[in-house]
Amino acid sequence: MPADMATEFPSEIDALAPIRSELLGRPLEFIVAEHHRLRDLCRLLDGLVDVTDFGAATVTAVLHCIEHELPLHVIDEEEDLFPLIRRRAMPKDGVERLLGLLSREHVEDDRLARIIAHGLRTRGTAGWDEAAFRAALGSFSRRQRRHLAVENAVLIPLAELRLTARDREGLARRMAARRGVVLGPGHG
Ligand SMILES: [Fe+2]
Ligand SMILES: [Fe+2]
Repeated sequence: MPADMATEFPSEIDALAPIRSELLGRPLEFIVAEHHRLRDLCRLLDGLVDVTDFGAATVTAVLHCIEHELPLHVIDEEEDLFPLIRRRAMPKDGVERLLGLLSREHVEDDRLARIIAHGLRTRGTAGWDEAAFRAALGSFSRRQRRHLAVENAVLIPLAELRLTARDREGLARRMAARRGVVLGPGHG
């Protein structure tokens, strides 16, 4: 595709459609579903690295994901999932090292996401720092894929192993409330 052609990704934008809110009743599955979506986001970002004219729908999808969904996802983990894992973990699980690493990555990825969002909003204007924008695209995508891989391979299995049924109910309730969703009977 020529570099100056507007880039729309219909199938990828579909892939960023909202996750079914019923899945919030099974919060660890919901988090994994969000991880799939964040991988889709990385694919979208990779597609922007070498193009100069971004399609409006792609920009809207990326901005929504990195400014709304990603921050909510990180709050779910930092404020609810990580404290639950800390409470239930055994010393041999080595959670402090794991959670410390993931938290540091959350901070750095938030910084990169802000550069990407700012770059998408200012592109084509005199204030556009194209080099910083393109560097942040590549760096965010690479780091985020690794972060997701660690969470899926280590964090989620540990949560599956250690969290009680009541922990999961509380997690579901808080994640749903954060999204303005009322869960059906049996969840809180
Ligand atoms: Fe995550
Ligand atoms: Fe995370």
